[in-house]
Amino acid sequence: MEESTAMSPRDPGRAGELRIAPSVLSADFGLLAEQVGEVAPSADWLHVDVMDGHFVPNVTIGPPVVASLRRHTPLFFDCHLMMTEPERYLQSFADAGADGCTVHVEVGETAALIAQMRDLGLRVGLAANPDTPFDALEPFLDQVDLVLCMTVFPGFGGQSFIADVLPKVARVRAAADAAGLDLDIEVDGGIDEHTVVEVTRAGANVFVAGSAVFNREDPLAAVEGILAAAVGERTGVAP
Ligand code: DX5
Ligand code: ZN
Repeated sequence: MEESTAMSPRDPGRAGELRIAPSVLSADFGLLAEQVGEVAPSADWLHVDVMDGHFVPNVTIGPPVVASLRRHTPLFFDCHLMMTEPERYLQSFADAGADGCTVHVEVGETAALIAQMRDLGLRVGLAANPDTPFDALEPFLDQVDLVLCMTVFPGFGGQSFIADVLPKVARVRAAADAAGLDLDIEVDGGIDEHTVVEVTRAGANVFVAGSAVFNREDPLAAVEGILAAAVGERTGVAP
């Protein structure tokens, strides 16, 4: 049996369930596979931050790194494309082993990008910066699998959580529920075992965490702690 078949569940899970997606941005890139392996037992997805130096001032990683990581883990790859021209790279990410890609609504051409991602068989995500209003997302809610509400301005790990985004998260959840949509709502930026409680209360269910995982002494325990705090908030049972 081929290795990829043997270790490829790559299942996103049921929409709306609580899920943690460690962000490799805060990992040691020289030890990437090893660090991913450390959190894999309790991680639901792996969040891969792609920065192009245009949409955001930083440059990170691209399809070759996704392809390398793909050989080491069966985790669902949640690729966050902070790029001005994602249409040029979506095929390469799909070929490299991305499972879901998320593009930013601020780059425009959203309907075409959604169609392109669907054609490639990718799970479809749409992201909004902290100051991008709900109205920009609203027309696409019934066309995507995931909405990513950035809780920091994208570009760097380790920034402070912006609580002003919470009402937008709540509005996306209310609109999805009212329309009966199976929608994942992801939050990204400054998420730790404390802020995850607030975003869960607002209606988010996928939690990206970089520094609160990989900058901790025990990244696996950190992943478990963040998820336990979210579960505690949703179920009313303290972790
Ligand atoms: C920020 C990235 C995030 C980042 C989060 O531009 O999109 O995914 O890794 O890092 P923390 O969890 O440290 O805020
Ligand atoms: Zn991200």
